[in-house]
Amino acid sequence: MSYFLVKHCTGAALPAQSASSIPCLDDYEVLRTLGAGANATVYLVREKHTSSLYALKAVDKYTVDGRKVACRAVVNEQVALSELNGSDLILPLHACFHDTENFYLVTEYLPGGDLQQLQISRVLDVEAVRFYMAELLLAIEHVHAHNIVHRDVKPENIFIDMDGHVVLGDFGIAWQFDRDTSTPDGYFTRGRVGTPAFSSPEVLFGEDYSFEVDLWAFGVILYEMLSGKVRVDCLSLRFIPFKVENIGGIPGQHCSG
Ligand SMILES: Nc1ncnc2c1ncn2[C@@H]1O[C@H](COP(=O)(O)OP(=O)(O)OP(=O)(O)O)[C@@H](O)[C@H]1O
Ligand SMILES: [Mg+2]
Repeated sequence: MSYFLVKHCTGAALPAQSASSIPCLDDYEVLRTLGAGANATVYLVREKHTSSLYALKAVDKYTVDGRKVACRAVVNEQVALSELNGSDLILPLHACFHDTENFYLVTEYLPGGDLQQLQISRVLDVEAVRFYMAELLLAIEHVHAHNIVHRDVKPENIFIDMDGHVVLGDFGIAWQFDRDTSTPDGYFTRGRVGTPAFSSPEVLFGEDYSFEVDLWAFGVILYEMLSGKVRVDCLSLRFIPFKVENIGGIPGQHCSG
C-alpha cells in the first residue's frame, strides 16, 4: 500500500515522509463525533504522543462505476489546504494518511463548531453578522488570491475557532485555476457541484463560471443571517446534493493507493 502524506504542512510542496514518521490511525484516540457530511465523518481525536486535540476527517473509499470518487475530493482538499496553509482564516492541516477503508485528514480542532450550529443555537444580532461576514469575505479573498475557487461556501463549512474568529474549511470540491494556461479573461470552469441552495444560476444550469460563485454563496448566507429566513426559491434545493459523479477538482492531482 502506498501513502500520500503530509505532516506539519508548510504550505509548499508536500514533503516526502520517512517510513518511521508516517502517521496512522493508531497515533490518535477517537473521543467523539463532531459532524458528518455527504462522504465523510469528522471526529474529535487526541494525538497520543502529544495529547493535543485535533479534528480527524475520515472519508470512505467508495467507488462509483469502478472509479474512486472520494479519492479526488480528498486529494483536492489536501492540496488546497496545503496551498492555503498559514492563514488564520483557513483550516490548518496537520496530517493526512489512508488505510484500506478510508482517507484521513487531520486538522486543527475548532471548538466553536460551525456557523450553522451557531445560527441554530442563538439569534445573531446585526453586529455579530457584520463581524462573521467580514471575516468570511477576507477568507474568500485569500482563497481567490491563490487562484482557487471554493465552490461550497455555506454555513456548515464556516467554522468558528476558540477566540470566535471565522475559519473556512471543507475544500473537497475546490477548483484551482492553472496559472500557466489561464489568461486574465480565462478563469472559467464548469461543473454542477456544491450545494444547490447556495449555488449561482451558472452552476445550476451547467454554464461556465469563475470566482464569483463564492460571492453568490456569500450573498445567500448574508440574506439568511440577516433575515433569519431561507430563500423561498431554495427551500426545495436545500437537501438535494448534486450527483457525486459530477465532482470536478484541482487539475493535475491524482491519487495513488
Ligand atoms: N476542524 C474542525 N473542528 C470542529 N468541527 C469540525 C472540524 N471539521 C469539521 N467539523 C464539523 O464536522 C462537519 C463536517 O465537516 P466537513 O464540512 O469538513 O466535512 P463534510 O461536509 O462531511 O465533507 P464532504 O462535503 O467532503 O463530504 C462540519 O460542518 C463541522 O460541524
Ligand atoms: Mg462540509
